[in-house]
Amino acid sequence: MESALVRSCLTVNYSGKPPVLRDLTLEIQPNELFGLVGESGGGKSTFALALLGLLPPAIASLSGTLTFQHHDLLTLPDRAFRRLRGRAITYVPQSPIASLSPRLSVAAHLREAWLIHEPSNSSDWRQPSLAALHSAQLPTEPAFLDLRPAALSVGMAQRLLIAMAILHKPALLIADEPTSALDLIHQSAVLDLFRSLRDTLGTAVLLITHDLHAAAICHRVAVLYEGSIVEQGPPAQLFHHPAHPYTRALTSARR
Ligand SMILES: Nc1ncnc2c1ncn2[C@@H]1O[C@H](COP(=O)(O)OP(=O)(O)O)[C@@H](O)[C@H]1O
Ligand SMILES: [Mg+2]
Repeated sequence: MESALVRSCLTVNYSGKPPVLRDLTLEIQPNELFGLVGESGGGKSTFALALLGLLPPAIASLSGTLTFQHHDLLTLPDRAFRRLRGRAITYVPQSPIASLSPRLSVAAHLREAWLIHEPSNSSDWRQPSLAALHSAQLPTEPAFLDLRPAALSVGMAQRLLIAMAILHKPALLIADEPTSALDLIHQSAVLDLFRSLRDTLGTAVLLITHDLHAAAICHRVAVLYEGSIVEQGPPAQLFHHPAHPYTRALTSARR
């Protein structure tokens, strides 16, 4: 069997308080669409930030296991994390508009995202950026490249963040509540987009959501409850034969 992309048995606590994550155990395979579902404040973003090496060391203490490919993320030096983050592991944050710089054009966002990892190939940003816009189903003409975030809809802002997140062909893309800011029609379009990115780029996707229905596109879904995974399996199994009371509650909830 191919070796797992992510292996976790992770405990995290903030400033000596009771753990937010307690032995959170899961494996994500290469090229898998993996859903992590759980309640608000349940530690989903904490898990994403741990994978990105972005939990503030002064207040967050991590123990257990967390690996990505052959890297031990709990001991990985900052420099090595900076090489992975934004390239091999990328992140689409929760609030699209707030995550963009108001003064920068679409082109400038992509150029910056390119330069972080390819400083010596600074003139080469354009072709991969246009390819990423195309994959994210955004326009590629100059008039669009010149727009600033204020001129973008929420859906377009999110697609721009997705384009930035696929620029370096990541092995793992983490999408944190990607449907929360969108209406129902745009929700299903963005979920389809993640599925097509996985198919065309071979990127594994960790889809984080409080909505079990949104996770229905995933191959497997893990249910996070009180800091631990209480159940995981294909979404159809969780919908039709939920084993845990919290999963049962999720099957009926739709905001
Ligand atoms: N920087 C922090 N300092 C202290 N507590 C935090 C910090 N970040 C998150 N928390 C707490 O950790 C818990 C989990 O938060 P989070 O990972 O954001 O959950 P979710 O993404 O599932 O909504 C919450 O109770 C939150 O208040
Ligand atoms: Mg969150």
